[in-house]
Amino acid sequence: MTKLLFAIVFAIGIIASTNAVAIRFSNNLSTIGPEPTALPTLSTAACADLGGIKSRSTGQCFIHVNETKTFIQSEIYCESTFKGHLASVHSGFDNLYIADFAREIFPSIAQYYIGLTTLTNNDYAWEDGTPVDYTDFSHNNYGLDCTTVDMKTAMWVKVDCFTTAYFVCVV
Ligand SMILES: *[C@@H]1O[C@H](CO)[C@@H](O)[C@H](O)[C@H]1NC(C)=O
Ligand SMILES: *[C@@H]1O[C@H](CO)[C@@H](O)[C@H](O)[C@H]1NC(C)=O
Repeated sequence: MTKLLFAIVFAIGIIASTNAVAIRFSNNLSTIGPEPTALPTLSTAACADLGGIKSRSTGQCFIHVNETKTFIQSEIYCESTFKGHLASVHSGFDNLYIADFAREIFPSIAQYYIGLTTLTNNDYAWEDGTPVDYTDFSHNNYGLDCTTVDMKTAMWVKVDCFTTAYFVCVV
């Protein structure tokens, strides 16, 4: 009974957070021009050409990179290779979507970077500048500034930014 209740609340949470992101993105876009348009991201086909997967709620194209680098090196790689950034994640649904894809193509890796950091600021910020409207930390390692996702649990772990890890870019 408790488990069922938890599952229902969890599902509602995911739906609510996914919608919240979509609404926030479209609100922001609607202030730019009179015609609300889709997010300026790659088409599904162009995303697939880069080996990426596309978020249904935000339109982001997530690209898992098969190399290990430090946080800063990873961000530089995403910028120079894809004109993108380390990935921002805006819902529990997308968090699991990215983790599932990582498990599928990189079954042996332990963790990968996403773009959430307190490096430049005391507050969390995404490397791509989008709002921090969702997080999924398992615990808080105070003093460590960068974020990886644990492949087993899909929960987030703060790590030293010089840790080398696989990483996911977003365009
Ligand atoms: C809205 O869009 C502007 C211009 O693209 C951006 O600078 C700003 O950070 C966005 N605000 C939110 C809340 O996403
Ligand atoms: C990742 O790179 C390793 C070593 O270069 C290679 O053996 C492996 O097949 C690659 N995996 C994918 C999914 O590209």
